[in-house]
Amino acid sequence: METFQHDLVIIGSGPGGYVAAIRAAQLGLDVACIEKDPALGGTCLRIGCIPSKALLEASERYEETRHGLKKMGIKVQGVELDLPGMMRHKGKTVKALTSGVAGLFKKNGVKRYEGTGRIEGPGQVVVDGKDAARLEAKNILMATGSEVATLPGIEMDWDRIGGSTEAIDYDVVPEHLVVIGAGVIGLELGSVWARLGSKVTVLEYLDRILPGMDSEIATKAQRLFKKQGLDFHLGVKVTGAKLDGDQCIVESEGRDPVTCDRVLVCVGRRPYTEGLGLEKVGVETDRRGFIQVDEHYKAADGIYAIGDVIPGPMLAHKAEHEGVACVEHLVTGYGHVNYDAIPNVVYTHPEIASVGKSEEELKEAGIEYRSGSFPFMANGRAKALNQTDGLVKILADAKTDRILGAHILGARAGDLIAEVAVAIEFAASSEDIARCVHAHPTLAEVVKEAALAVDGRAVNI
Ligand code: NAI
Repeated sequence: METFQHDLVIIGSGPGGYVAAIRAAQLGLDVACIEKDPALGGTCLRIGCIPSKALLEASERYEETRHGLKKMGIKVQGVELDLPGMMRHKGKTVKALTSGVAGLFKKNGVKRYEGTGRIEGPGQVVVDGKDAARLEAKNILMATGSEVATLPGIEMDWDRIGGSTEAIDYDVVPEHLVVIGAGVIGLELGSVWARLGSKVTVLEYLDRILPGMDSEIATKAQRLFKKQGLDFHLGVKVTGAKLDGDQCIVESEGRDPVTCDRVLVCVGRRPYTEGLGLEKVGVETDRRGFIQVDEHYKAADGIYAIGDVIPGPMLAHKAEHEGVACVEHLVTGYGHVNYDAIPNVVYTHPEIASVGKSEEELKEAGIEYRSGSFPFMANGRAKALNQTDGLVKILADAKTDRILGAHILGARAGDLIAEVAVAIEFAASSEDIARCVHAHPTLAEVVKEAALAVDGRAVNI
């Protein structure tokens, strides 16, 4: 096996790994990136964020064309679902982006190795597979991401009882889909299949959906999703699922079993470090399998980790920024991520987005705050778009008015939240947002009005 030298070897090419590789190359390092899948981009680009968004967008258009256009004076007839065509749209989107990453590697001079990377010792990584090689580098960055977590008693066959990877690839619309877990994946992919015609039953252990999200927003969102046909059963502890002929049976504590033809298990993800060779360099994981790192993402001398394999929200953009901060610190001595300003988006219809603290978190921390809300219903553009569900809520420090959090349920919430993330990054007050000129008529005016509402002076309500 041949040996090659690099300055930095990155294991994993997801949004954490590939962005870190490009940034390190921009900073002048000789960078290698090892990826076991033939396509670059990791879970997010291949089987996560991107394909799910392609299906969410397409299924939403289908639903709107069938039921939403009438209200705007458009009559349509003969609308048909072409599931293979929708899957082709998804496939093309993924292909364009994963090959885009390959192009970016070329442009930036990042050397790609196809195979599985395993750490052999300090500064040494072995690639097993197509591009088998021995790599030597002063620094190694682990960005191996996460995998689907399952529950004891659930007999995954990774087909009819599967996770998100299977649920973005069903070849027929399930008649009855049972979703275990009302978190982000459950709501997004549950929405896709409900729009395409499945009966969707969501079983959730807690007494609410979307744990961690602001509960006022989550409760309002649940009402909307219920109207869209998602059948929620809260406070249900699923204890098992198995195949039974051509059906699946899902069992839960104190309830009758549910029979269905597909099960989507989405009860969280766990860090993926299998076979990485952590023991060879004395790196330990915590009880939940996360690699422990210091504030510069160092796990041991010359060994770093970012993204889903370290604690924190499992989000592509969090991984991306950690990757950049990690390699910038390596090269320049500076590099930082502001964990108070990481937006979180659920791409349902309408979308749900948040940044900063929720009301529950502020109450628990004993922080005095003022809250301002404004409904989409009172916004001209939202009315013209026929997208009037939801609200923007801004939370600001009671004394200083500094923005502490924002929560949006409504059309394009994922795009609107960017303004508040920037505001938090700049330590802005709600008055700062309120005094900024927002174009009329735009959905962004809902954010401005919510900022005005913090001081009790929203105009258009
Ligand atoms: P999640 O952590 O969002 O939700 C899991 C849900 O399963 C929770 O509500 C939990 O209470 C429930 N649950 C756990 N055990 C259960 C049981 N025995 N019976 C019934 N319910 C049970 O996890 P999810 O949806 O699998 O997503 C995994 C990760 O992927 C998340 O960390 C998320 O951040 C990330 N992701 C992010 C997306 C986005 O940002 N739009 C999209 C998809 C995934």
